[in-house]
Amino acid sequence: MQRAVRFLVLLLVGLALLAVVGYVVLARTTRAWFEHDLALRSQLAVSSARQSLESNWSSGRKQLSGALADITRDERIMAAAACTPQGELLAATDSYPAEFSCRSVLERMRHEAATGAETWSMSPELPSGRVNLSVTMLGPPAAPLGAVVLVHDLSYLSRREVATRNFLVVAFFVLSLAASVITLVAARIAWRGWTLELGRALTGEATTEFQPLVRNVRELVERLASEREQEVRGGRWSPARLRSILTQYLNGERVLLLANRAPYIHERTDGGVEVLHPASGLVSALEPVMRACSGVWVAHGSGSADRQTVDAHDHIRVPPGEESYSLRRVWLSEEEENGYYYGFSNEGLWPLCHVAHARPVFRAADYEIYARVNQRFADAICDEVDSDDPIVLVQDYHFALAPRMIRERLPRATIIAFWHIPWPNSERFGICPWREELISGLLGASIVGFHIQQHCNNFIDGVDAFMESRIDRETHAVVQGSRRTLVRPYPISIEWPVHWLEHVPPVDEARSSVRRELGLAQDTLLGVGIDRLDYTKGIEERLAAVDELLMRYREFRGKFTFVQLAAPSRTKIPRYRELNERVQAVASEIDRKWSSDGYRPIVLLREHHEPTSVFRYFRAADLCYVSSLHDGMNLVAKEFVAARDDEQGVLVLSQFTGASRDLTEALIVNPYDLRQASDALAAALRMPKDEQRERMRSMRRLVSEFNVYRWAGRMLVDAAELRRKERLTGRLGTSGIFGRSARA
Ligand code: F6P
Repeated sequence: MQRAVRFLVLLLVGLALLAVVGYVVLARTTRAWFEHDLALRSQLAVSSARQSLESNWSSGRKQLSGALADITRDERIMAAAACTPQGELLAATDSYPAEFSCRSVLERMRHEAATGAETWSMSPELPSGRVNLSVTMLGPPAAPLGAVVLVHDLSYLSRREVATRNFLVVAFFVLSLAASVITLVAARIAWRGWTLELGRALTGEATTEFQPLVRNVRELVERLASEREQEVRGGRWSPARLRSILTQYLNGERVLLLANRAPYIHERTDGGVEVLHPASGLVSALEPVMRACSGVWVAHGSGSADRQTVDAHDHIRVPPGEESYSLRRVWLSEEEENGYYYGFSNEGLWPLCHVAHARPVFRAADYEIYARVNQRFADAICDEVDSDDPIVLVQDYHFALAPRMIRERLPRATIIAFWHIPWPNSERFGICPWREELISGLLGASIVGFHIQQHCNNFIDGVDAFMESRIDRETHAVVQGSRRTLVRPYPISIEWPVHWLEHVPPVDEARSSVRRELGLAQDTLLGVGIDRLDYTKGIEERLAAVDELLMRYREFRGKFTFVQLAAPSRTKIPRYRELNERVQAVASEIDRKWSSDGYRPIVLLREHHEPTSVFRYFRAADLCYVSSLHDGMNLVAKEFVAARDDEQGVLVLSQFTGASRDLTEALIVNPYDLRQASDALAAALRMPKDEQRERMRSMRRLVSEFNVYRWAGRMLVDAAELRRKERLTGRLGTSGIFGRSARA
């Protein structure tokens, strides 16, 4: 009702405006017509009296006055006068207004009318009202006799104008009202018709133009209902719930996972063989998933003792002591590792995908090896399957080509490719000489996942720009022939609770032991940064922000120490070696500037730290600064939150990480802006305990709920749904009754 009244008012206002404009235009036009009419009328009056006027012109005032009086018999002609060409009055009727002397009228005519004009008129305003003055020249133009001036009464014109305006106002009002009522009635009838039709369509009673909409609504409702039901029924996402998803939706299939980095690396040391857990977000996320699902993880065997720990089929059961899944190691020659891992993956794709201002290097020889190694890993996956429709999780930029290679050998497989790093926009991605091959490789998967929607959009734009395919923007899918690849965001996370924390001392103990080990006073305020030594992590900017903090906030000099744990990474690549040296130089320079009496502002530990050690530092710190220049997600941020069961500690987080979209209670900064970053560090160090608790509690709630089991579970459910639809379409298609083939 309210909407109808609003519509009515708007319509009336609109029509009223239209009426005002219409009135002004109409009034001007009719006045012009009337004035033109008058001029003609004057000419007519003078022409009919011309003979008598000309013959009486010089016969004396009396006769001329008589001729003029004849003219003013017309009720609209108020007065008349006869003037000599020089502007002297020869004769005039009694009512001729004194304001219009012959001289003034003829002078004005000479000014305003065209040279040689025989007639001219004007409409001046008198105290008694508006009049029209028309002048007609008598006699030959070369030697005129004189001029006759006629004065017309225009008061009737004003009366006509008022009458016209009144009529227009009433007419517009009546018309507007009628138009509004008709529109409203028509809209109501149409709306009722649509509602009834939509209602019938929703209950399945009719086939209407609403069918596509109804189909979408139904699908959405079903999806939401099933998600809701699962949430309610399943409770918090956990390993058990993930397993039940596999049983419920995927016939209890075991999962095959392809990732370059292995979760367990065996290294030969002086003390024998040691098991290392690599510093990798991918590994921290996927290892708990594999423990929950069981299956096989296929990875590069890069450890010096890897070969001696596997069986004859290159398998080893892991985790040590728990043995819940298998690790299959694939051996690479030095040439293969150089071309595929260091070369195309980390000198080409890594800088291509991160906006960290490093130039990608694309070597054809590297790409050839990359393709060959992808095939080797794809074959290794195919060797591991025990059905023709396995579930394969292909991880990261090392394996862009593998999904299609696996699809070729296992057409019925459910392949989920997850890209752990950002996907650049098309302009940037387009510089890669093998852009089509990479996209085509990924489109071999059933689902291509990214951390955030923006990277999905970039990928879809890339498909649009470089591939022959149809993009279904409604369902976020790419269709090639009869195959569909969903492109969806799945923000990755960590296990909850983190199993490593069982082996880490509580916060108080961690605080004091870490400070003791680093030779710091027990009341030292401690900041921590934990990364692989990679130029995308913004480690130089992080240290510079600490420098800025000490410069701008004197209170923290001698009191605040920042410890940076930096795991050496990809050191065969010159860019990484240079970074290593630069980070060391920056740290030394800051130390030189601010150290005093045993106080060290920066502690740089450039070595690999096992997860228990990492979590102990998280617990010991007052703040954690994640300053990535660009990062798909960044799980260090989430791990810091998981470590802080005391609900204390502040996370300072780069706005260029995927995590900053989830962890909004962190202090979000632009790591390039040293002023802003140092202000955030100061705010973190001064933050009252209550505020720390409030922020940390909220982030912990989020990470615990949106954990890695949910990440994997959602992808598996979507994959199962896709698989169900594909099977259904396949079956209906061959039945020949309802399928696409029957209609075509
Ligand atoms: O997101 C995790 C990640 O950045 C991966 O993309 C990458 O594989 C890994 O961490 C660590 O790198 P690397 O395997 O080269 O040591």
